[in-house]
Amino acid sequence: MDVIKIKDKDFAVSIPESKILCEVERLAAQISRDLEGKNPLFLAVLNGSFMFAADLFRRITIPAEISFVKLASYEGVSSTGVIKEVIGLSENIAGRTIVVIEDIIDTGCTMQKLLESLGTRNPEAIHVCTLLLKPEKLKVPLDVKYIALEIPNDFIVGYGLDYDGYGRNLKDIYTVVE
Ligand code: IMP
Ligand code: MG
Repeated sequence: MDVIKIKDKDFAVSIPESKILCEVERLAAQISRDLEGKNPLFLAVLNGSFMFAADLFRRITIPAEISFVKLASYEGVSSTGVIKEVIGLSENIAGRTIVVIEDIIDTGCTMQKLLESLGTRNPEAIHVCTLLLKPEKLKVPLDVKYIALEIPNDFIVGYGLDYDGYGRNLKDIYTVVE
């Protein structure tokens, strides 16, 4: 087993590129079938989803658009503490069918905030598509329609996901090892 080091942690491959791309292919075919005639707008959440978004979108076979958003966190005065604001969305999404592309849903808090924010802009529908889901960590109710892979509760990097900014360029997904 090949172990690589990123900063202070060791990682080993847990999901090889071939497996990832096989699941991406499956999702792209399913979304293309489900959203035929809907002219969907894909919204990829930067930074983590850039690689997944590129591989997924190039396999979409129906007319569709893609745009990129970022979530800016800042300390707010609300009771929840950290507020996440959606930035970079210049498209009018009113009446549109939206597919949000995320790298990973962990607690689900990030996605919940994003859906709240997008929901105020009157889209026709919002579908959530994530590369990875950690079902054991999910702590808010979320309807995640498209999931490439469910994973255990371990920290992972690669294929766009980072550890402190590094590891995004790895083509496979790696899990931290003790
Ligand atoms: P949530 O709000 O807890 O669902 O957190 C989602 C965000 O946390 C993701 O968009 C990632 O940026 C980050 N994240 C959660 N788990 C991991 C992981 O295992 N590796 C890298 N980033 C992660
Ligand atoms: Mg992310």
